[in-house]
Amino acid sequence: MRIAVVGGGPGGLYFSILMRKIRPDCEVAVYERGAPTDAFGFGVVFSDETLTVFEHADPETYSQIAERFTRWTDIDIHHRGEMTKSGGHGFSALGRRELLRILQERAASVGADLRFGCEAPPVSELGWADLIVGADGASSAVRTALAREFVPALDRRHCRYMWLGTDLVFDAFKFFIADTEHGVVQAHAYPYDEGMSTFIVEMHERTWKRLGLCELSIDDSVAWSAELFADALEGHRLVANKSRWINFVTVRNRRWCTDNVVLLGDAAHTAHFSIGSGTKLAMEDAVSLAWAFRSYGDDVASATSAYEAERRPIVESTQRAAQASLEWFEGIGRYVDQERLQFAFNLLTRSRRVTYDNLRLRDPSFVRDVHPDPRPPMFTPLRLRGLELRNRVVVSPMDMYSAVDGLPGDFHLVHLGARALGGAGLVMTEMICVSDIGRITPGCAGMYSSSHVAAWKRIVSFAHAHGAGCAMGAQIGHSGRKGSTRLMWEGMDEPLPDGSNWEVIAPSAVAYSPRNQVPRAMTRADMDAVLDQFVWAASGALEAGFDLLELHMAHGYLLSSFLSPVTNLRDDEYGGSLEGRARFPLEVLDACRAVWPADRPVSVRISATDWIPGGFGVDDAVALARMLAAHGCDIVDVSSGQVSPLERPAFGRSYQTPFADRIRSEAGIPTIAVGAISSYDDVNTIICAGRADLCALARPHLYDPAWTLHAAAEQEFDPDAWVPQYQAGSRKPPAGRDRVRAELERTFDEVALISSSRLSG
Ligand SMILES: Cc1cc2nc3c(=O)[nH]c(=O)nc-3n(C[C@H](O)[C@H](O)[C@H](O)COP(=O)(O)OP(=O)(O)OC[C@H]3O[C@@H](n4cnc5c(N)ncnc54)[C@H](O)[C@@H]3O)c2cc1C
Ligand SMILES: Cc1cc2nc3c(=O)[nH]c(=O)nc-3n(C[C@H](O)[C@H](O)[C@H](O)COP(=O)(O)O)c2cc1C
Repeated sequence: MRIAVVGGGPGGLYFSILMRKIRPDCEVAVYERGAPTDAFGFGVVFSDETLTVFEHADPETYSQIAERFTRWTDIDIHHRGEMTKSGGHGFSALGRRELLRILQERAASVGADLRFGCEAPPVSELGWADLIVGADGASSAVRTALAREFVPALDRRHCRYMWLGTDLVFDAFKFFIADTEHGVVQAHAYPYDEGMSTFIVEMHERTWKRLGLCELSIDDSVAWSAELFADALEGHRLVANKSRWINFVTVRNRRWCTDNVVLLGDAAHTAHFSIGSGTKLAMEDAVSLAWAFRSYGDDVASATSAYEAERRPIVESTQRAAQASLEWFEGIGRYVDQERLQFAFNLLTRSRRVTYDNLRLRDPSFVRDVHPDPRPPMFTPLRLRGLELRNRVVVSPMDMYSAVDGLPGDFHLVHLGARALGGAGLVMTEMICVSDIGRITPGCAGMYSSSHVAAWKRIVSFAHAHGAGCAMGAQIGHSGRKGSTRLMWEGMDEPLPDGSNWEVIAPSAVAYSPRNQVPRAMTRADMDAVLDQFVWAASGALEAGFDLLELHMAHGYLLSSFLSPVTNLRDDEYGGSLEGRARFPLEVLDACRAVWPADRPVSVRISATDWIPGGFGVDDAVALARMLAAHGCDIVDVSSGQVSPLERPAFGRSYQTPFADRIRSEAGIPTIAVGAISSYDDVNTIICAGRADLCALARPHLYDPAWTLHAAAEQEFDPDAWVPQYQAGSRKPPAGRDRVRAELERTFDEVALISSSRLSG
């Protein structure tokens, strides 16, 4: 087999080595436009657990790399004249030039044909090769030449950074956070040999422009950085190496292989440097691709497909972590005023891969300093007006589609009753519809007759009498254009069979999908009627004894469809700008707040983004949250999407939490985070980092009604919430429980399950 490798970076070189080892009969030509010693940048860092795969793949290179590693365990965060240390992390680093030298020598020794100073011919001129490997980095020409096949997506991010080095050898991974008059500038620094450290300077593009760095030469930029970080550098030099101010570009491709061409490393995918994974990913790709040829021989199509199938989920998971990390640094200005230890905890857990529990294992005293309270963070109480919630866990609203003519029955009593016994601080009802045509389906529960009030009262009374202190929240809403559809298990969002549909109303006459009815655009009289229905339902919720009222302004239902520019096309004062679109929802909030007692909290659930271009976005959500706060809302329940079937959500672990975080820090209102939060460790991490005030969990509570009690038992914490009838079971998780929970958390952790399930309500 004849192989052309375009690019002699870590990915291309490592693949060449492994292929020559596995198939000494194959010819491997590596085109590298640079000279052997031309490496850009300084050191690259690997975290400890990444190295085993390389030890097995090629012990010769591994031992040389490992010999040259500089190792350390601490992360130090320097901010406002103070240093916060967190230990137990385990990193290794070496110079990029040194890494390339080792790989180049090894590749030459196993017989790869290394062509330095040689621009690769275009793909169309590499017809002699049985396999062409595009290992030509983030700006890959191979990818561009075959863009129609690979379908790349390049996401240019909002920070500028410059990769520099210093002759000061740090003893830890260092973050230096500098406040300037135009915003925060941060440096990521770590040692990589006995004489040098990497020093990457980064800031938001806005800050970069305002500071005038766009006008400075590279030398002047380096001098400016050295001055800003003079204390950190302790008189040492800051040096450049092919350095320039760059916007990080996240590279994704719909496909990584086509015919006999395959992408590898940065050409296929990039991951922000702040999680230090790009080199590792490129080298792991190389292992996977080479191993695929060991299995499939000369069958190039099968080998490259197997490689992509194996690597894509791993890479995408790393890219999600990298995305969370880069977004954190883009928004660092939101966090710098946090208390020192909370800021440090927030920084360390930014990618969502490092958690409260990880940090407790790595450095228990650091976590004790951050959270001195003997109760785990999730078991600290929260006060909202006169309501004290005993912990931070919420049973998220879940429609059960089991009411008859809006009347909740025994199913609801047992379902909500079980969750009230399960230890959560707040148990929310499903969306309680404010009128019969405001129901989503014929099975949705309502609050539009006195029998409904009485039925809800029975459920709330049970929870208050037996639920060991849990609060009950009523979510009230109106389905709008998404009404008159089938029960979830009979076809979500599908219209009812002919003859049984009811008229649906919405701000504008735009159907949810071509299958659904075109709604009637609401008149002011319709709005008045709906307003009265909300007030009636809020009064009913009060009479039924609920502790908290939530208005459903999310998921494309009536109030949500006023908010979104995709669904609200009105040209009167209830459409147009965000102020116009929010006018009716705020009128509803005002009217409900007026009948809801001053000592009881009101929350509002919103979709923080429609996940479609031109739709409601996170900036709108922050502005809306400010308006909600001004109108008496106490906490914003931050969900997303379900406004349009054209949405393209980026699902993943805790994927909506960054929206709750942004709203909380920018609008200054408490938030509830929800969505793919499945482990108590996630809840502890979110609360401790200050990303949200409460965490709502839906599907985990379908799996386990007593989710909170079990979380307490597993943390060996006695939450004093086991009802006397269940005390005998409170101490020890039944055998097998840990395995089941671990399984569940793994399932919830990754995108597959989440993306395949469309959620209702
Ligand atoms: C600031 C910064 C810090 C980083 N820190 C880390 C870190 O700490 N840890 C880590 O693991 N990763 C880190 N990375 C990421 C890492 O550098 C890359 O992910 C890694 O180098 C990717 O390897 P690669 O082989 O895919 O591509 P590259 O290393 O980019 O190699 C591609 C090669 O192809 C050559 N080439 C391109 N086009 C042609 C052509 N037409 N003809 C001939 N040759 C061509 C280039 O000259 C280059 O040598 C960092 C990246 C940056 C920007
Ligand atoms: C069966 C089911 C019914 C739902 N019904 C509602 C609802 O009535 N109101 C609402 O706001 N969200 C509803 N949701 C959305 C959840 O409250 C929650 O936001 C979503 O499931 C994400 O959380 P999770 O990942 O913990 O499941 C429902 C979800 C499920 C699974």
